[in-house]
Amino acid sequence: MAKIIPVETFDCVVFGATGDLTLRKLLPALYYRFRDGQMPPESHVIAAARSDLDDEDYRKRASKALKEHVARDDLDAETADRFCRRLSYVRLDATKPDADWKALAKILDDERVRVFYLATSPDLYGPICRNLGSQGLVTEKSRVVLEKPIGHDLASARQINDDVGAVFSEAQTYRIDHYLGKETVQNLLALRFANTIFERLWNADVIDHVQITVSETVGVEQRGGYYDHSGALRDMVQNHMLQLLCLVAMEPPVSLEADRVRDEKLKVLRALRPIEAHESTALTVRGQYTQGAIDGQPVPGYIADLNGAESSSTETFVALKADVRTWRWANVPFYLRTGKRLPQKVSEIVIQYRALPFSIFPEDAAEWQPNKLIIRLQPEEGMRLSMMTKDPGPGGLRLSPTALDIRFEKTFGIRFPDAYERLLMDTVRGNATLFMRRDEVEAAWSWVEPILQAWSGRPDQPRPYPSGTWGPTAAIALIERDGRTWHEDLA
Ligand code: BG6
Repeated sequence: MAKIIPVETFDCVVFGATGDLTLRKLLPALYYRFRDGQMPPESHVIAAARSDLDDEDYRKRASKALKEHVARDDLDAETADRFCRRLSYVRLDATKPDADWKALAKILDDERVRVFYLATSPDLYGPICRNLGSQGLVTEKSRVVLEKPIGHDLASARQINDDVGAVFSEAQTYRIDHYLGKETVQNLLALRFANTIFERLWNADVIDHVQITVSETVGVEQRGGYYDHSGALRDMVQNHMLQLLCLVAMEPPVSLEADRVRDEKLKVLRALRPIEAHESTALTVRGQYTQGAIDGQPVPGYIADLNGAESSSTETFVALKADVRTWRWANVPFYLRTGKRLPQKVSEIVIQYRALPFSIFPEDAAEWQPNKLIIRLQPEEGMRLSMMTKDPGPGGLRLSPTALDIRFEKTFGIRFPDAYERLLMDTVRGNATLFMRRDEVEAAWSWVEPILQAWSGRPDQPRPYPSGTWGPTAAIALIERDGRTWHEDLA
């Protein structure tokens, strides 16, 4: 296991501290880093929100959240108690210049690294940053962390970036895409650039196509208000899926320095061929779940999940075919699909190699399957390379696909940290490699926006699919038209 080196002592101010993200993700992540000795014990987490609470009330909420969201074996009561004592609460409407900013200023230490984490709706990023600036709270060692989505289209993303940029420099701005903090996503960099064998076989000469699937079994849960204005393209494709595509498709960066990696990702985003309105039916599929069953249990449809809506044209499923116009990827399609209420929660990248150019084996010696590299991001993180091997025994010559299989949890025998643990510590360390730069976010919106426009200009609605199925049948047709199939060995 990598050695844990404590970060510098820090103050972290979380805006939106009573919200779901803070309670479900940020506090548990900080607890783990505190427990493992990476968060120095004098560090301070300041929870800021509008609710009328005091320190003790907030600590009680935090303690409850830890009980709910930290694995039971990992939660030590005494450590959790010490951690909660590092939390303070400030009642503050951070969008108001005349709020009680002095109460916040008083508990911040001017010498420390200062992290402002904006776990709020993105339309508040501008006002909060403006106030942080005018209240003189932004020191040289300050950073601001922005959750996705950065805006809901290119213009709003630019506006947010301008507003934040008027107070924080780009180097101080950390735009989170939590997929980049996942262990297996970082392992993609290791796979490609720490192994001679793969990088030589990472191009159109040998790769037929790439598939990226991010499927979830959950519906929109309590987030209908946000989700119905967003939809799967904005919620998952514009950020997580395009970031995964970038890591698969980018050229080797000259170093791991943040900007060198981000330069390469940006080139991929800029090389994506725009999908024009007249092609949107052929190259994209949008769906919306209806009632069905997940794990044998009946579940309602999307409209019912919205509580009170009569109709909605928001997509909960997207499949699309993307084209990266570079020498490396000429004529190698990238098929992306993501959706809610699909049969399994799985995130996976499949690199499908080309069929043999010539075979010396009899045609009937095997059920031929071209090599396939499957990178499993979650669950059961690992990698599998499917290869043809000879069936053992002295009988006739038979070949079968067999897998070289690495399951990380089994190999390393440790808990896989949540993405937020690394990302929060990287923010304190000032390492922005796993965060998105302004131009990347805007380039991703530039590619996604014409698809949104094409959809809104079409009379048809998202195609219904029963919960518990792999989306509308049109998503299957999208890939099968090209003589290919979605990877199915998902269990
Ligand atoms: C979030 C989306 O960014 O990612 C959610 O807003 C989605 O809708 C979530 O459920 C998926 O993340 P993970 O880590 O569970 O795959």
